[in-house]
Amino acid sequence: MPPAKTARTKKGGTRKYIPNLAEFYFKPTYDWSHAKAANLYNKTKPLTKDVELDTIQFENCIQGMKRLPYESIDLVIADPPFGIEFDGKSGVYNRDENLVIEGYEEVKDYQEFTREWLAELPRIMKPASSAYVFSGWTNLESVLTGAREAGLVTLNHLIWHYPFGVYTKKRFVSSHYHIVLLVKNPKKYFFNKIENYPEDVWVVKRQYRTGLPKNATKLPHDVVSRCVDFSSRPGDIVLDPFMGSGTTAIVAKSNFRRFMGFEINEQLKPLLEEEITKVEPGQLYTSYSERLPSIEELSKLYPKAYREYIRKEEKG
Ligand SMILES: C[S@@+](CC[C@H](N)C(=O)[O-])C[C@H]1O[C@@H](n2cnc3c(N)ncnc32)[C@H](O)[C@@H]1O
Repeated sequence: MPPAKTARTKKGGTRKYIPNLAEFYFKPTYDWSHAKAANLYNKTKPLTKDVELDTIQFENCIQGMKRLPYESIDLVIADPPFGIEFDGKSGVYNRDENLVIEGYEEVKDYQEFTREWLAELPRIMKPASSAYVFSGWTNLESVLTGAREAGLVTLNHLIWHYPFGVYTKKRFVSSHYHIVLLVKNPKKYFFNKIENYPEDVWVVKRQYRTGLPKNATKLPHDVVSRCVDFSSRPGDIVLDPFMGSGTTAIVAKSNFRRFMGFEINEQLKPLLEEEITKVEPGQLYTSYSERLPSIEELSKLYPKAYREYIRKEEKG
């Protein structure tokens, strides 16, 4: 028979380990009521005289980021183009896997491009700030190399698994993305543990907007929300250098965060303006404690742990 699992107590002893019991006692590291979050949102200081908060500048982000002040950004969310074949004419940026294979001759340039934009981050990131960088597996090497050369430290390597991929005949269906979590200082960075057991594989379906205009590479709001929730506070400034159809801006605004972004494709301007204007500041914000499952829900998920929780509560 395997030995009974034990857990270490604070006083150095051991007690029987009850799986999932910790879920019943979990509290987020930081939390803000709706009113408090709104207050912080209204207090954010302007970025610079030239670059207003909650705007998107239609230009190359490598030039644009140079104008941002030193240590002014709380969180970066970057979903760079898959290749650099952007011609300025297309209204839709195509991220089809087949293009990557054909575009091998562009890898050298892509590495240089990745190196250049990542090199801008450490100057503009606040000391405790983080950056989430999205990457397909084919470009991952460029991202990891660029980040290391920029002096950023990889804290986590997240996998976004979307349970849908393009049908293949002679290789595995690609159904994941990499999200590299980078920090300036691995000893001092902001992280709000809003879940008891936040795993590094996120299972989130892709979002489809059938019949509506879109940037073909739009990220799901739920993926971007996780980056915002775990690594920023209300009122913080979230930078997206590759705004696309504005997922970061929409998620930031609807969660009482400020945004700032760049986008090279001016044809996305009407779509971006329409989508962002529709959103009210804080419209999706709820405090992190309110988002946790209730004791009743937990009791159904973990009946054994619930019995232990009740026993402990009754004992006082
Ligand atoms: C993968 S998409 C971003 C999609 C976005 N995350 C969303 O959810 O809609 C990349 C975007 O970067 C833009 N882009 C490409 N090169 C750029 C550059 N040098 N500066 C700014 N934007 C650029 C493309 O036009 C494209 O819209």
